[in-house]
Amino acid sequence: MSECVKTGDWVLLYHDEKHRYTVKVEEGRVYHTTHGSVNLTEVVGKRYGETVRTNIGEDLVVSRANLLDRLGSLRRFTQVIYPKDAAYIVVSANIGPGSRVVEAGTGTGFLTAILAWYVRPSGRVYTYEIRKDFYEAALENLKEVGLLPYVEAKNKDIRKGIDESDVDAVVLDMPDPWNVAEEAYNALTHGGILAVFVPTVTQLERVIVAVRKSGFKVIEPVEVNVRKYKPVPGELRPETLGVLHTGYLLTARKL
Ligand SMILES: C[S@@+](CC[C@H](N)C(=O)[O-])C[C@H]1O[C@@H](n2cnc3c(N)ncnc32)[C@H](O)[C@@H]1O
Repeated sequence: MSECVKTGDWVLLYHDEKHRYTVKVEEGRVYHTTHGSVNLTEVVGKRYGETVRTNIGEDLVVSRANLLDRLGSLRRFTQVIYPKDAAYIVVSANIGPGSRVVEAGTGTGFLTAILAWYVRPSGRVYTYEIRKDFYEAALENLKEVGLLPYVEAKNKDIRKGIDESDVDAVVLDMPDPWNVAEEAYNALTHGGILAVFVPTVTQLERVIVAVRKSGFKVIEPVEVNVRKYKPVPGELRPETLGVLHTGYLLTARKL
């Protein structure tokens, strides 16, 4: 990894805990923050850890943007998977470098990008999206974060069939995943894992019935809860406000 910022790099410009900015470096572009503007040409060639001064004399530390920083700057047009749920999916579906993963629906491409990040460099994410406008916008998002080379996106209703076979995992975040249980089973390799995200218990129950009927084993419905705390010594306690509910996850194996 280069020690110096290059054109096209994603950087985090850090002022303080409440003010940090993720931006893709383009020469000539002026980036506006609440602490003044930065000509991004001045960021090129900086060593990571150095500062850049805004037009009103405020210093911002130039750091590398991580995956979540980058994804946070994407245009969202659907509900997206929260990192806590994505992390559970990646680990429980045994997704790693080289994995071949089928996913639906693509939506904003947030989860697609996370899956692509973990299957790199030799794996692939085959993602299905029924809506053409979402499919096209997600392609733009994936291109923007540099993860498109690891993704094959399709503007297709996954209920009409999965084109791939012997895949390692199938990941579903769509309104009626129970209608894909059998297709998923057929597409998976022996030992492959299905991971489903649904927002309500009513949907979860329908998924359990469908995966059982399709022959899946080791059916595990879970809920992942993360509670943020105030990082203040002497005041260390849970944050007053936060996300109370995202959804339920279910994993099942083809054994
Ligand atoms: C909640 S969004 C997915 C968000 C995505 N996981 C993310 O993190 O950005 C659900 C998506 O599923 C798509 N969808 C619904 N039914 C589908 C189907 N049968 N085949 C493919 N995509 C479908 C919807 O159009 C929508 O974009």
